[in-house]
Amino acid sequence: MTIDRRTFLSSAAMTAASYQRVMGANDKIRVGLIGSGGQGRSDWKLFLKNPEVVPVAVCDVYEPNLKLGLALAEQAGTASGPVASYKDFRQVIERKDIDAVIVGTPDHWHAIPTIAACQAGKDVYCEKPLSLTVREGRAMVDAARKYNRVVQTGSQQRSGPHYAQAVEMIRGGKLGKIAQVQASLIRNAMPGWGTAVDEKPPSDLDWEMWLGPAPARAYNKMRCLYHFRWWWDYSGGQMTNFGAHDIDIVRWAMNADAPQAVAAFGGRYCLTGAGETPDVQEVLYQFPDWVLTWTTCEMNSARKSGITVHGTNATMRLTRGGIEINGEKWSGLDAKQPGVEQQKYPGTEQHSAHVRNFLDCVKSRKKPNADVEEGYKTAVMCHLGNISMRLGRSLKWDAAQEQIVGDADANRWLTKEYRKPWKLG
Ligand SMILES: NC(=O)c1ccc[n+]([C@@H]2O[C@H](COP(=O)([O-])OP(=O)(O)OC[C@H]3O[C@@H](n4cnc5c(N)ncnc54)[C@H](O)[C@@H]3O)[C@@H](O)[C@H]2O)c1
Repeated sequence: MTIDRRTFLSSAAMTAASYQRVMGANDKIRVGLIGSGGQGRSDWKLFLKNPEVVPVAVCDVYEPNLKLGLALAEQAGTASGPVASYKDFRQVIERKDIDAVIVGTPDHWHAIPTIAACQAGKDVYCEKPLSLTVREGRAMVDAARKYNRVVQTGSQQRSGPHYAQAVEMIRGGKLGKIAQVQASLIRNAMPGWGTAVDEKPPSDLDWEMWLGPAPARAYNKMRCLYHFRWWWDYSGGQMTNFGAHDIDIVRWAMNADAPQAVAAFGGRYCLTGAGETPDVQEVLYQFPDWVLTWTTCEMNSARKSGITVHGTNATMRLTRGGIEINGEKWSGLDAKQPGVEQQKYPGTEQHSAHVRNFLDCVKSRKKPNADVEEGYKTAVMCHLGNISMRLGRSLKWDAAQEQIVGDADANRWLTKEYRKPWKLG
């Protein structure tokens, strides 16, 4: 079945107007999965563990992943009938009996399904990074607000109790005055993720629909499943991949919405496999009275990934594995030692808590832990880091106007061209 765009959007908007059911605590939540790849299925499994979730539909453009998503729904044994399978997400969004969708597609396919789902009166659990561009993220926030939808960004660290504990300690002043924070993704992925040649797409993949709004390209498996992360047309490298997790926590802990300026440097210096995004990237973000450094390093693992918060009294290391605080020694004249003892707290589960928080908010209509606007603000920081590096100059950010100051060229990078017939909302 094919649906033309006008019919799709007008029926979606009509549905939104008529479909504002208020849920009770014991109501079922009927869910569809769009993008049944690695992370989509990982989300799906956790959704299916919750007793009120009824799986209704699975959508993927790659048949083997579609089947894996369907199999998970069947194994759960909680469907109220056969779980429908689709290759075109618009057919999932058209269904009036679906309350919420998971968007587990690659980044270049986050905004369009999320906005369409909001228009159709559905709540959305959209994987991180929220968007491929700054303007897409803004359109997603606007759609969520206009249609009064719950939209959770898939930055699950926001729901980890030990992250909340760390945020409380940081905001409570335990580390003293904080003027420097570092966040990083460090590993040695040498020599890269392999090379591949352009070829005919596999018969069980709709490559045209996989590309969607991205430029037309010959199929190459190193651009497709999982590896899309290393290409600018579909994603933003580790800056958006892991930056979307740890920069999100830093913003939360430091109670910061946006930096004033960004300067980034880096390139693809060592990896020889297919891909475009940098293997080394250093980004400096200036806030009024502190500085954040983001580091991507894919070619040497001597340093460690995670967040380090430097305060005048103590330093905190914060990762998924836990919290470690070590006291500082002052060396200035008249030094009075802050006397912070070493403390360690174990890591806590995040992903199922994040899914649970979304489901609770679907019922309560409260903002979820990683509300779309938080996902947007974090994505803005990641995108600015990439724009600065790619342009080779520092940028001043006007958060109120959502513009790069005095740089028309750079502002063009806040959006992108959409291949026809795709458009934003
Ligand atoms: N929260 C986390 O910790 C976490 C971890 C991994 C990935 N992610 C995010 O999840 C998203 C997917 O990453 P992945 O590693 O699962 O990739 P993947 O390639 O394994 O899965 C993506 C799936 O989407 C499908 N797809 C592509 N276009 C589609 C379309 N138009 N309609 C329906 N299905 C479509 C693909 O065929 C594939 O099955 C990314 O945005 C990534 O950043 C989040």
